[in-house]
Amino acid sequence: MESVFYSPTRIIFGEESLKRVGEEARKFGERALIVTGKSSSKKSGSLDEVVNSLTSHNLQVEIFNKVEPDPSIGIVEEGAKFAKKCAADVVIGLGGGSPMDAAKGIALLMTNKGEITDYFGTDKVKEPALPIIAIPTTAGTGSEVTKYAVITDQKKMLKQIIGTPHINPKLAILDPLLTLSMPASLIANTGVDALSHAIEGYVSTQANPVGDILALKSIVLIAEALPGAISQPDNLKIREKMLFASMLAGMVINSAGAGIIHGMGYFITLHYGAPHGLANALLMPEVMEFNLEGNPLKFRNIAEAMGKKVEGLSEKEAAHLSVVAMRELLGKIGIPRGMKEIGVKEESLADFAKTVSKNKRLLTLNPRRPTTEEIEEIYRRSM
Ligand SMILES: [Fe+2]
Repeated sequence: MESVFYSPTRIIFGEESLKRVGEEARKFGERALIVTGKSSSKKSGSLDEVVNSLTSHNLQVEIFNKVEPDPSIGIVEEGAKFAKKCAADVVIGLGGGSPMDAAKGIALLMTNKGEITDYFGTDKVKEPALPIIAIPTTAGTGSEVTKYAVITDQKKMLKQIIGTPHINPKLAILDPLLTLSMPASLIANTGVDALSHAIEGYVSTQANPVGDILALKSIVLIAEALPGAISQPDNLKIREKMLFASMLAGMVINSAGAGIIHGMGYFITLHYGAPHGLANALLMPEVMEFNLEGNPLKFRNIAEAMGKKVEGLSEKEAAHLSVVAMRELLGKIGIPRGMKEIGVKEESLADFAKTVSKNKRLLTLNPRRPTTEEIEEIYRRSM
């Protein structure tokens, strides 16, 4: 069967690579718009560093710093208006997944007519977006190398996905120094998000041999590094491993897509405010348990990548160890044992399951196709 691997983003990786941003942005024009969150890039000094590098290469710089976590339709529209007013040539997303995704939406609206809602879905975008430079300050989203932007639709209470190669960043600058200022909970939640990308992409029905290599490497790195990332937040070698692993996982989902961990997790974020990675973490063991019979060999490989001994075991036994390894890792990094602990109520689960089951694309990517009842059951088991 044919398979596709697609990864068009140029990547500059390494300590102090942030210094390259001015020189690189200048290749795209004279006016740069930085899209970032409300305060953390300012506080950490990374925003100033980007501005300095840009101005020293004679770029005119404007800053849109209103992006909230889980960016809304409104914030993307507001950012696009601002970008048009300053006639930006290049959009720089600086921060976690939220500013990078907002930057993608803004860059898209600079070259495509209409509203951001017109582009929800897969391959709806006609024209290439303005060039995007993505600079992650967390190690998790992988958005710096993906064709996806996730925008929150508060009216419909849905996370809407824009999926188009036209918003794949032209350049990703990955400087591990930028990820040093993260609090422990952010390291845990974003790290688990990256792990969920590697796993969902690896077992996806659209997985491909190139992505599989990257996924397994990513799983090995995260399983090894994540506990230490939290206990030694200033260890630059560990930060570098996590940033690298999260980028690899982003490359994996760029071609293979994600599955129902993401599809189900979105509702825990929308209705209970759980950060994206935490929502995924709470669902991951039970989704894996459900999915493993859809592709036992791959779950066996995940168990091995997470450090379990699988020789001499049947494929089924070995596959099950991936769930054991996941529970152990989540326990080590302080993820709550179930959704009850973060306030999720039983009575909301049936509605969530119904809405998830309408997402045909996502269900097709999942290695085992669940019924609405099975989705609800996975939610319940994750309580
Ligand atoms: Fe994610």
